[in-house]
Amino acid sequence: MLGDFTYSNPTRLHFGKNSLGSLAQELKNYGPNILLTYGGGSIKKSGLYDDIVKILKAEGKNITELPGVMANPTIEKLREGAKLAKDNSIDLILAVGGGSVCDYSKAVSVSAYCDEDVWDKYFLRMEEPTCKIIPVGCILTMVGTGSEMNGGSVITNHEQHLKIGHVFGDNVFPKFSILNPEYTFTVPQYQMVAGFYDIMCHILEQYLSGTDDNTTDYIAEGLMKSLITSSRIAVKNPKDYEARSNIMWTATWALNTLIAKGKTTDWEVHMIGQSVGAYTNATHGMTLSAVSLAYYRHILDAGLKRFARFAVNVWGVNPEGRTDRELAELGLKALESWMREIGVVLSLRELGVTEDMYEGIADGTFLLGGGYKKLTREEVIEILKESM
Ligand code: NZQ
Ligand code: ZN
Repeated sequence: MLGDFTYSNPTRLHFGKNSLGSLAQELKNYGPNILLTYGGGSIKKSGLYDDIVKILKAEGKNITELPGVMANPTIEKLREGAKLAKDNSIDLILAVGGGSVCDYSKAVSVSAYCDEDVWDKYFLRMEEPTCKIIPVGCILTMVGTGSEMNGGSVITNHEQHLKIGHVFGDNVFPKFSILNPEYTFTVPQYQMVAGFYDIMCHILEQYLSGTDDNTTDYIAEGLMKSLITSSRIAVKNPKDYEARSNIMWTATWALNTLIAKGKTTDWEVHMIGQSVGAYTNATHGMTLSAVSLAYYRHILDAGLKRFARFAVNVWGVNPEGRTDRELAELGLKALESWMREIGVVLSLRELGVTEDMYEGIADGTFLLGGGYKKLTREEVIEILKESM
């Protein structure tokens, strides 16, 4: 049975090859001062930076640049951006990049006018903003996180060895996002497949919970099937527009709050993965792929029926004459062989994890209990060991 919920997603999306054409119209809704946030330079290489600056200038905007937003953005960088945004009376933050730049821009948007310590308030105490929020618009260049249409913002505090995501309310969602699949053609293969696994993991975090018949789970199955088909094409030909556009759209729906509605959700793979990220600064999707299989084996018995359904409905395993356990195991095998096929990391060692990090990673892992089984700290350590 679907639980009660409210559904609202205020982000306006512009999708497709000509979607940048909508930027000028969007800009008319905001004052003159634009904070242009971006990463380490991929948008300059691709020429996208020049295209955007041209539109901003034509619309008479003043541009304050904030380059160098790193993958897994840090609290120090957030403090720098918050000050810059306030000092320049920013009217709109325009984020150009992947999940890191989008997440970061949302964090800046709620921090510029915040009088409290923003790490403590938003990431340790998980409080909602009480100050003025600067609007954010995104131009997405890397697919996976869903940050373009959600309130998620993940910030890393290296000093405290913590990587924490705050899922803000819809007042913090991007006001608009521009999604041109062609912008993703230049993403390096490693980042691209990490993004593909991130999408799969987002869907599984919401699918692997509950035992009821729930419309949302059928949507999740459809999204996974589309991702599997298109990812197989994209790893062979990254410039296949059909595949890349399907994946871009799937990524957005995988984490724009829809498939969490009316049900509980798990998110434990992300909790372990983020803590791994805090210790290694590894690519987000790879921290998930490295721990997923060991985690799923730990919860398999508790969620046997759903894992069996996953095998049949998502991977096309023939259920005839097979027990739920046999099906569940075949489903995990199919998942593993797809992960090998697209080329994601399956070992924590490859990400730089060493045995002396186990305790710290376990301490930084939030134990949520929304899925089939609430882990203990000892089980997190077992999962880390099995993922090496
Ligand atoms: O910095 P540049 O030079 O732009 O290079 C980036 C970066 O090195 C590169 N890249 C992006 N678009 C490119 C490109 N290179 C060439 N051509 C392009 N078109 O890719 C690298 C990775 O980018 P990043 O933004 O870090 O990747 P992703 O989109 O995976 O974002 C990861 C961050 O999002 C958080 C993660 O924890 C991590 O911090 N997440 C956010 C979520 C949310 N908002 O709901 C949920 C996720 O589970 C995730 O936790
Ligand atoms: Zn993720």
